[in-house]
Amino acid sequence: MNATPTSLNLAVSADPAPLDVAALRKDFPILNEPVYGKPFTFLDSAASAQKPRVVIDAEKELFEHYYANIHRGVYKYSQDSTEAYERTRETVRAFINAERARECIFVRGATEGINLVAQTWGRQNIASGDEIILAELEHHSNIVPWQMLAEEKGAIIKVIPLLDDGSVDMAAYDGLLSERTKMVAVAHISNSIGTLLPVKEIIAKAHAVGAKVLIDGCQAAPHMKIDVQDLGADFYAFSAHKVYGPTGIGVIYGKESLLDSMPPWQGGGDMISTVSFEKTTYNDLPHKFEAGTPNISGGIAFHHALEYVTAIGLDRIAAHEARLLAYAEDKLRNSNSVRMIGTAPGKSAIISFVMEHAHPHDIGTILDRQGIAVRAGHHCAQPVMDRFNIPGTARASFGLYNDEQDVDRLIEGLAKVMDIFG
Ligand code: ALA
Repeated sequence: MNATPTSLNLAVSADPAPLDVAALRKDFPILNEPVYGKPFTFLDSAASAQKPRVVIDAEKELFEHYYANIHRGVYKYSQDSTEAYERTRETVRAFINAERARECIFVRGATEGINLVAQTWGRQNIASGDEIILAELEHHSNIVPWQMLAEEKGAIIKVIPLLDDGSVDMAAYDGLLSERTKMVAVAHISNSIGTLLPVKEIIAKAHAVGAKVLIDGCQAAPHMKIDVQDLGADFYAFSAHKVYGPTGIGVIYGKESLLDSMPPWQGGGDMISTVSFEKTTYNDLPHKFEAGTPNISGGIAFHHALEYVTAIGLDRIAAHEARLLAYAEDKLRNSNSVRMIGTAPGKSAIISFVMEHAHPHDIGTILDRQGIAVRAGHHCAQPVMDRFNIPGTARASFGLYNDEQDVDRLIEGLAKVMDIFG
């Protein structure tokens, strides 16, 4: 096995020095290819981040040099693949500061992680009349699994409303909490409007009434240092593909005592200890929740994605994105035609906006023809759109490889939208 990263064009330093974006962009081959003959301006990292060369190479190297199924073979390549895959679990542990690697369960992505908790911990612990609290800004993946559970069990969903700037109404949250609350499931950062939630406070308050808390960390993991122990999160979900890693793999972290007490979810190979037709016994953590052959190549490449962002420094990435957000907001504030949705203090580098005469899909299409990729629509967060009484927004979201030039191109692109729609 030789899974060493091949190139890191990083200006790594111990102090939170500005990122050398021009150098970093060289790590992302796709960013250097024109679209419609124009420079590719990628402003959709909240949907999925682009991949650095080290991640692309890691999968290629596996398949060319040491691929085999994991946890099963006594031969060299199976053991090498297993070692590389399990190394990622330790990298994930360190990335989110979990106490133990066995608390980090590999899943297809955050969506699967949330479903896993709803259907194991939830089925075991939620009964008729119990309450589950969500925030109004949740992604559908942190709404629907709880609705399905509530329907099955006769439980009740309560919703923390949003204030006009897109913050969660913490006074209303206080009013929703009671001894009937069994689960609070909220995003760390909203995918649709960028709000950063005070999750440490939300968790402490939930614990005070005896409830458990799941944090959907999809939009936080690429942008800020996560410390599940400091937060006190019972469960924390995130996806690799948003942290510059492969698709089809993610993590559900759970406190060991909770995971141990939960029944398995899917049955199959690897999650068992012994099987007979009379009785099956289950494997220990983390394998109890990992039935079947997993996404081996994705799991192995995931290590390199986390190592890549860690080497750059999440503090530097966060500072860079905050500067970029301020730059973009400043420019957009001067435009009479653009209305930003979600302006909560401390928000993440996600700008959701509407324009008077142009539908978000028209904005997205006109920008696309200029080589600018944004997302348009409800962003899998329809209740947020309902809250602001809009059908959807256009959304520009930033990653470590974006710079002021990308913002300037967006502003020029929006001027074209205005020319067309008036
Ligand atoms: N959840 C992803 C987004 O916000 C897909 O676009």
